[in-house]
Amino acid sequence: MSQTVLVTGGAGYVGSHAVVALLERGYSVVVVDNLTNSSREALRRAEKIAGSSPVFIQGDIRDVSLLSTIFNEFDIDLVMHFAGLKSVGESVSRPLDYHEVNVAGTISLCQVMQSASVFNLVFSSSATVYGEPSSMPIRETFPTGKPTNPYGRSKLLVEQILEDLAHSDERWSIGVLRYFNPVGAHPSGLIGEDPKGIPNNLLPYVSQVAVGKLPRLKVFGNDYPTSDGTGVRDYIHVVDLVQGHLDALRVLPDMNGVHVWNLGTGKGYSVLQTVEAFAKVSGCEVPFEFCERREGDIAECWADPAKAYKELGWQARFGIEKMVEDAWRWQRLNPDGYVDQ
Ligand code: NAD
Ligand code: UD1
Repeated sequence: MSQTVLVTGGAGYVGSHAVVALLERGYSVVVVDNLTNSSREALRRAEKIAGSSPVFIQGDIRDVSLLSTIFNEFDIDLVMHFAGLKSVGESVSRPLDYHEVNVAGTISLCQVMQSASVFNLVFSSSATVYGEPSSMPIRETFPTGKPTNPYGRSKLLVEQILEDLAHSDERWSIGVLRYFNPVGAHPSGLIGEDPKGIPNNLLPYVSQVAVGKLPRLKVFGNDYPTSDGTGVRDYIHVVDLVQGHLDALRVLPDMNGVHVWNLGTGKGYSVLQTVEAFAKVSGCEVPFEFCERREGDIAECWADPAKAYKELGWQARFGIEKMVEDAWRWQRLNPDGYVDQ
């Protein structure tokens, strides 16, 4: 009998790649997503890639009675929890929505899991919880910092709540995965990141400049203490990221408590290096101009991924060229993202 995984936010960017990977490895998949930041089409395409279908339930993770029905109806073994709001800028103007969805939504999910005696949970956290670390690379033992925005605080709060929960009942097995900068797309070009409006993050922005939808990239700051003065980040291919979730899912049931793993490659690339890689792979020019630093940004951020390698046998396989190659294929084949059919 295959195991059944509930994937919250499974129609989203990372979630849809996880659905493909789970189906391909023979798991049964139930997706709950309210489609606030995603499209039903993403799941149709995930089915096409994997050759099998998840069950899709359109609904909200804050809806306890809906979640209870799902746990009653399906024999859920494990939960991958992606559902949430993720725009840093928007979180500043809508803090209550961010805390309600990200924090209260996770509490509802855990309450229903507890009632259903399902204790295996993988949670999508972020390197943002480290704040501004004093040295690189970042290890899981580094103290969590002071996130500078409500989005970051919501992730840190959830991590703390999950610690309290696991402390209260030893049956919980919780994997907290701290993502560095997920980029790229499935190599088929069928699923990828589909930001609404003007993208905030570097790679989606650069892709839209390359495809001609945006005139030029604004490089936020060229006076950082980095090799070329621009910000350095640890970009990680979304397919590698999702593999980390599958590895966590495999080992978690035998590990009680909360386990934190960094998911990054361990290598940092500057904004200019990333733009150069993109221009090389796409053959397109990426015009840019230097601007003021963006508020809340840090100079550099990259992971020490050794703990995930030691405990999960996980390491990233793809480098920056493959990341931009797959991001570019997705952008080229889907210049307007998903168009719901
Ligand atoms: P995404 O917005 O593409 O996916 C999130 C999904 O959750 C969407 O499909 C959305 O419709 C759904 N959703 C939102 N609120 C919901 C609700 N109340 N009920 C049910 N569904 C709801 O984002 P993503 O990039 O796939 O990120 C997935 C998770 O990873 C998020 O928790 C995010 O905070 C975290 N994360 C993402 C990044 C990143 O750069 N992509 C980095 C660090 C952490
Ligand atoms: C962003 C989020 C962070 C989240 C992380 C994960 C913000 C402020 N922070 O971080 O909470 O955990 O994604 O993916 O959104 N850049 C430009 N021009 C642009 C866009 C970005 O120069 O138009 C630069 C940034 O200054 C940074 C780098 O590119 O140096 C990467 O930026 P971005 O993709 O937004 O990611 P983060 O800032 O690392």
